[in-house]
Amino acid sequence: MEQELRLQPFLKWAGGKRQLLSSIRAYLPKQFATYYEPFVGAGALLFDIRPEKAVINDLNSELINCYRIIKENLDELLIDLAKHCNDVDYYYQIRDLDRQPQFNGMSAVERASRIIYLNKTCYNGLFRVNSEGQYNVPFGRYKNPRIVDEGLLRSISSYLNQNDIKILNTDFAEATGEAQAGDFIYFDPPYDPVSNTASFTGYNLSGFGREEQVRLRDHFKTLDQKGCFVLLSNSATEFIYELYRNYKIVTVTANRAINSKADGRGKVAEVLIMNY
Ligand SMILES: C[S@@+](CC[C@H](N)C(=O)[O-])C[C@H]1O[C@@H](n2cnc3c(N)ncnc32)[C@H](O)[C@@H]1O
Repeated sequence: MEQELRLQPFLKWAGGKRQLLSSIRAYLPKQFATYYEPFVGAGALLFDIRPEKAVINDLNSELINCYRIIKENLDELLIDLAKHCNDVDYYYQIRDLDRQPQFNGMSAVERASRIIYLNKTCYNGLFRVNSEGQYNVPFGRYKNPRIVDEGLLRSISSYLNQNDIKILNTDFAEATGEAQAGDFIYFDPPYDPVSNTASFTGYNLSGFGREEQVRLRDHFKTLDQKGCFVLLSNSATEFIYELYRNYKIVTVTANRAINSKADGRGKVAEVLIMNY
């Protein structure tokens, strides 16, 4: 892999892992075959590790469309991104496209361009949709947001094309179904809420409740039994400590970039759980 590429997330994403990277690096397996990141989000760890062979996945199809377009159709994306401006009326016009009948007729490039634009200009870089799947984050009022970071998008595109990176848009269990002994899986699921008011369920329509956390733990166990290296991050709640009591659990602190009002911003305890 060419080390000179500038690789980092191209979107702000709730639960983005940039704050935790130094802690996570200390606990990576020394060697592994394929890297799997089934809740990839903005991909902070992917772009930090830069594996030559990886499977990345997320259930959010607008997000995965961005990765695919950056990989396959970067030049058209850059042209489309250049048309956007940081203006409140323009923002709501683009944001509300998903409330119009013509939304389904938009090209994949236009959809990726819309998501990147909204992410750079909306309040706090949230991706949040209402119960009908419509983007509902207000305008961010930033003075000079960097809507097009051409250098970064080019680096990401090169990375995705020069390496063997499979991009999937499915459930975490299916995305890791083919993992073999010696592969490394990093799970960064929507976190177990620290309190009800801290609950952030804006990732997708289905939410990720405790039943989902149990299903994920069972899948963690299956991969463990297959001989994979499995690492998972989550919030440091009693429920999570109990679910993973048979594994190694390290407690770390992180500055959350996107946090609920109830908790305020600041340090929160998180856990790294591993089977190695
Ligand atoms: C905590 S975020 C990941 C943050 C990411 N590590 C980063 O650095 O930006 C969790 C992600 O899980 C995705 N997700 C939610 N339910 C899922 C499921 N059942 N399967 C796969 N992805 C899912 C969400 O769309 C969201 O992007």
